[in-house]
Amino acid sequence: MFTCEDWRAEPAAVIRPLIEAEADRWRAELDWDVTEAWRTIEPSRADGRLAGFVLRDDFSRVAGWTCFLVHGDMLQVAMFVAETAGAATALVDAIRRSPLATRASIAVVCCRGGAPGLASALERAGFATARYRYLSAPVRPAAAVDAPFRLRPWHMGDVEPFVTLCARAYEDASDLRAFAPRGLDAEWIDYVRGLLATSACGRFRPDLSVMADLDDTRRLAGAVFASELAPGTAHLAQVAVDPSARGRGLGTALVARAMAEAASRGFTQATLLVATGNRRAASIYERLGFRDRAAFVVAVCDQPRRLTSVALETGGASTRR
Ligand SMILES: CC(C)(COP(=O)(O)OP(=O)(O)OC[C@H]1O[C@@H](n2cnc3c(N)ncnc32)[C@H](O)[C@@H]1OP(=O)(O)O)[C@@H](O)C(=O)NCCC(=O)NCCS
Repeated sequence: MFTCEDWRAEPAAVIRPLIEAEADRWRAELDWDVTEAWRTIEPSRADGRLAGFVLRDDFSRVAGWTCFLVHGDMLQVAMFVAETAGAATALVDAIRRSPLATRASIAVVCCRGGAPGLASALERAGFATARYRYLSAPVRPAAAVDAPFRLRPWHMGDVEPFVTLCARAYEDASDLRAFAPRGLDAEWIDYVRGLLATSACGRFRPDLSVMADLDDTRRLAGAVFASELAPGTAHLAQVAVDPSARGRGLGTALVARAMAEAASRGFTQATLLVATGNRRAASIYERLGFRDRAAFVVAVCDQPRRLTSVALETGGASTRR
């Protein structure tokens, strides 16, 4: 039996240690320093802008918590901590019943995969789920890799071409994803804007990012968008090659160059996320020394009725079950 309460009604003394404990896990498990990225969580919660729930067991111990927001028409769940499968189910139900869910036409979850039973709980709630592998590799100044295109760092004018590249690269992708889940132009613009302007995927490092131009066009043949997660840890937040340039070693050359750029700037490792179903990308990473480190759960529900019907029935009140 759990009691689920709106976390905005909780005192900061309860919530701060929960966020700090999760930040510690990100640091220890992922070498990902979220201090900057999560700085606004507690103030946004305290002034009522960031929704979330705290789950307590029969002994009033916190058994889990989550927070989420609506951006445009998308409900986004970025943090989800649960000690047991039962706690995960109760929190997923609470999100579905939340009044915010009634405003969303799609719900997207992207969380560190630490909560037991999270994927099953989401599937029972109508989500499609995917497991993402979080990989890391040591970086060292590498011997030059043959590239079918000239490689260069990120330039100011690359924003629009990068949006176009991402949209084209994922046009035929079948893996579920948390970014641009429907492949809409507006979602790609939003995604790239987020990569550049926020530290949700690490702090953007134009000097570690690697671009390849398609000959005689303003289009990109491929790119690695890189960020910094923590001192010594570079993150390859996006790797994309235009369909017309694939199968010629460009993806491999881009990743190898990004790793070498990171090494020459004092980084010791690179990390990235890849869907378990993305064998083509994984084969590149494994060949370059990337190994499994942790897992993330990604889930998408684009059937608003399923999400909102319960919420409309209950008015989204906090519940005891
Ligand atoms: C993944 C991606 C970047 C690869 O780009 P690329 O330029 O074709 O990559 P490369 O030519 O360097 O290497 C592709 C490798 O995958 C292998 N490959 C191709 N199809 C494959 C498949 N279905 N399963 C496994 N391996 C496959 C190729 O044989 C090649 O390996 P090889 O060099 O040993 O022959 C490109 O396909 C892409 O942009 N995909 C969509 C976006 C994406 O998934 N990005 C990665 C996110 S983590």
